[in-house]
Formats: sequence, C-alpha cells, structure tokens
Amino acid sequence: MSRIVLGVGGGVAAYKSALLLRALTEAGHDVRVVPTESALRFVGAATFEALSGNPVTTDVWHDVPEVAHVRIGQTAELVVVNPATADLLARAAAGRADDLLTATLLTAHCPVVFVPAMHTEMWLHPATQDNVATLRRRGSIVLPPAVGRLTGPDSGPGRLPEPADVAALAQVVLAAGADALRADLAGRRVVISAGGTREPLDPVRYLGNRSSGKQGWALARVAAARGADVTLVAANVDLPAPFGVRVVPVGTAEELRAAMLEEAGSGGGAAADVVVMAAAVADFRPATVAATKLKKDSASEPDAVPLVRNPDVLAELVTKRTPGQVVVGFAAETGDADGDVLAHARAKLARKGCNLLVVNDVSGGGVFGRPDNAAVVLAADGTATDVPHGSKDAVAAAVWRAITPRLA
Ligand code: CTP
Repeated sequence: MSRIVLGVGGGVAAYKSALLLRALTEAGHDVRVVPTESALRFVGAATFEALSGNPVTTDVWHDVPEVAHVRIGQTAELVVVNPATADLLARAAAGRADDLLTATLLTAHCPVVFVPAMHTEMWLHPATQDNVATLRRRGSIVLPPAVGRLTGPDSGPGRLPEPADVAALAQVVLAAGADALRADLAGRRVVISAGGTREPLDPVRYLGNRSSGKQGWALARVAAARGADVTLVAANVDLPAPFGVRVVPVGTAEELRAAMLEEAGSGGGAAADVVVMAAAVADFRPATVAATKLKKDSASEPDAVPLVRNPDVLAELVTKRTPGQVVVGFAAETGDADGDVLAHARAKLARKGCNLLVVNDVSGGGVFGRPDNAAVVLAADGTATDVPHGSKDAVAAAVWRAITPRLA
C-alpha cells in the first residue's frame, strides 16, 4: 500500500478521475484527492471523499494546525495529476503555490506524473509545450495525451488516457521509480511479441500453452510510456491494448513469425530499434490439421498426433537483425542433471545469438498468469543482472534499463 496524492485539474475530463481514484484504492493504496477549485465545478468533493475515505480541500486555509499544504506533499509516495489542464501545467511550471495542489507539488519529494487533457490547440501551443519541457527537465513525468475524440465534435491529441491505463502506469512508477517512465525512447520503434501460440488440430482444438501475455504487455506499457512507438504482436492474449500501443493479433507460430519479421523490418520495411520475443512459441505443431472436427466415434479416430517442428522465430530474427537492432529473448528454465538454471540460460543465449536473454527460474512452479515475476537478465557480453521478485511492471522496467544503454 502506498500513499498517493491524486491532483485533479479543472477540465471536463475530471470526471474520469473518480474512476482512477477507484482503481487506485482497489489496488490497496491510500489516496488523498487534492482538486483545484475549478475541478470541483465538474466533480463534487463528496464523490472524492466517499471514494477515497479522506477529506477533500482545495485551499490552504483548512486544517491550518496540520499545515496540510506542506504535509500532504512531504508524505506522498506518488503524485498523479489527472487531468492536468494547460493552466495547471503553467502554474506548476512557474512554481506557483496559490492553492493546495500547487503547494503540494512544491513540497513533494516523490515521483510526480502529470496526465494532460485539453484541446489540441492548447496542448500544441508553444507556451504549453515550454511548460511541459520545464516540468520534464525538473524530473516530473508528463505523459503524452491520447489522440481521439475531445469534448465537442472535434478530435486530435489532447484526450485524457483511460483511468485503467493511468492506474497501470502509476503501478509502474511505484514499482520501479520515476526513471521507468523517462521519455528517453522517443523516436524509437519497438516490437514485442506476447502471449502463447495455438497450433490447430482441427477447427475447434489446438495445442497451446498457458502464457497470459502479461509480461509482454508490461514491457509494451513501459516502452510506450517512455515515448517509444510500440507494436505488440499478440498471440491469443485476452487483455485490452495498452495505452498508445498498436496490437497485431496472431494465432499460430507461423503467423507470429510472419508478423515479427515484418514489424522488425527484416523484410525491408521500417526497421525496429528493439525486438523482444516474450511470447511462448510452440516448438511443434500437428503435422496435419483436420478440415472437419475429429469425432471420438469415427473410424478415423487418431491414436497419435504426429508433430512437426515450428520455425525458431528468435533465431531467425537474430540472423536477419538490422544494423544496431537490439534483440531480446525470454527463457523459462528449470535446473536438471545437466546443469542449473543459469548454465542452461547461458547456453541458450549463445545458441540463439540475441543481445539479451531474460531468464525466469520456473523450478518452483509457474509464473504463468501470475501478476508477479523475478528474473535474471543475461547479456551477450557476459553480464548477469538480477531482477528481484516484483510485479511484471517492475521486471519490465528492469528489462528496459538493461536495453536502453545498448541502443545506438
Ligand atoms: N522462441 C521462438 N521460436 C520458437 C521457440 C522459442 O522464437 N519456436 C523464442 C521464445 O519467444 C523465447 C526464446 O525463443 O524468446 C526461448 O524460448 P524457449 O522455449 O526457452 O527456447 P527453445 O529454443 O524452445 O529451447 P528449449 O529447448 O529449452 O525448449
């Protein structure tokens, strides 16, 4: 549980802050809502008080003996300003302290995330862009606004990201610190495979695996928040697309191979800077796929399912790697009589030829579908970095910390 301050600016998107508040409290956090005076024209203080269980004030003249304008910021572990209006960004950049929220921003030692929402003209205005640059230079995270329908009939950049996406990013910052969301991947193209392939036996059955896609999703979420242009090649993943990420759905290993080669630029298209193979790819598929459903009472009931080998997508991506491209593999390993987890992993890294291999020790039970994970990141240059047990977001942040220094 963390102490989070939810700052709410005075824009119509303030209504979405109630849903964000709900998501944060349901994740177990203690949230103190600090709206601006104009935010309360859109959402009443009673809504924030009921959902947070904490009092709500906008000015510094309440709870004066408690010195709230200093204490709320000092004790926060994360401040999320959602929505951040053009005026609020301007006041924060200028270092004003004319209400409780701006005073809180001046006293906070913790990571601060601004989630802007405004009309496109206001977002693109040089004054706003300068304010955003100032806040980022001082260490705050300012997310790029979503593109889409704005208040009224117009659309463009300026829309507030969905509450679930902001809540997920808040968890990344809490797990991995503000550095996990630095906008240092702007201009980089990233392709990530996620999920598990399904190899059909007949029109209704398949050979599959239990990969949920959550680790790939976390990798995409962190990369997108750091400014990268991210494509997820998703094999059978039942999760909503992360904010700002393009999802290419695939089913089989063959489909995943074609999509990854295309997106990585191995076929001559725009080359990706980073290619991550987080998907669990079936090594084998049924040699034939029945055109009609296999019947248990039919004379053609099979007594064995012949399998053929699937292509090794990671190995092929490595062979076709474009200049400067960083290729990252994943491996779930167990120790056995031939060697421990790390010995197997080092051999796999050498065999596959990728730049980095993220190794999960699955000896003690699966990581599949679970929200948490632990890993070791092995590099082709021989270094091994331990990633302590934590959320898949924290593991994703650690993987990106290993990737970024290797980018040209
Ligand atoms: N991989 C792949 N294509 C395959 C199998 C695996 O691209 N046909 C990728 C996975 O996405 C992962 C890495 O290779 O990034 C390692 O997967 P793993 O299943 O551990 O590798 P295998 O080569 O199948 O090794 P093993 O003999 O241990 O099964």
